[in-house]
Amino acid sequence: MRITITGTPGTGKSTVAQILSKKLSLPLYNLSDLIKKEKLYTSYDEKRDAFIVDIEKLKEFFEEKKDFIAEGLIAHYIPSDVIVILRAKPEVIISRLKERNYPQEKLNENAESERIAFCANEVFELRPAPVTIHVDTSTRKPEEVADVIIEGIKEGGLIEEIDWLED
Ligand SMILES: Nc1ncnc2c1ncn2[C@@H]1O[C@H](COP(=O)(O)OP(=O)(O)OP(=O)(O)O)[C@@H](O)[C@H]1O
Ligand SMILES: [Mg+2]
Repeated sequence: MRITITGTPGTGKSTVAQILSKKLSLPLYNLSDLIKKEKLYTSYDEKRDAFIVDIEKLKEFFEEKKDFIAEGLIAHYIPSDVIVILRAKPEVIISRLKERNYPQEKLNENAESERIAFCANEVFELRPAPVTIHVDTSTRKPEEVADVIIEGIKEGGLIEEIDWLED
């Protein structure tokens, strides 16, 4: 099974993906590591300290693979059987990312991006997989999030209603 996990930084993609990878015995790819290792980028943006991903090369890398979990901000550009979108309250995003000593500006940027559902909206437009799982991680432990995802896959999809603009 091909599972992709996307979401704003701090929603817990890497944490949950590791649990899922063990529970489902699927090889795990962290996309930012993979992109560097396999040189799946076109250039490097010095100002943002980020690689500009070559989406075509990224898709090619996964083309022949039938079993994997790929997690990262742009995971939803990879065709898969299951797309998981992790969400978390903007204030939860800030408190989780604070531990990384991010500058305030970067904390605010990520919280705002989550508040307006930037990543989730892209997924609902792209519909990159037949099965969609949309989960609020704000008050769930990583183990619980993993179990909700597994249950959602069994059910053929799970879309929790999440709108931080209404809070
Ligand atoms: N469900 C959760 N409950 C509480 N804390 C969590 C949960 N999920 C993740 N965390 C914590 O939040 C922080 C960010 O988690 P993680 O690194 O998995 O996020 P990420 O989505 O992979 O972020 P990035 O996009 O920057 O890689 C970590 O310190 C992690 O331990
Ligand atoms: Mg991560």
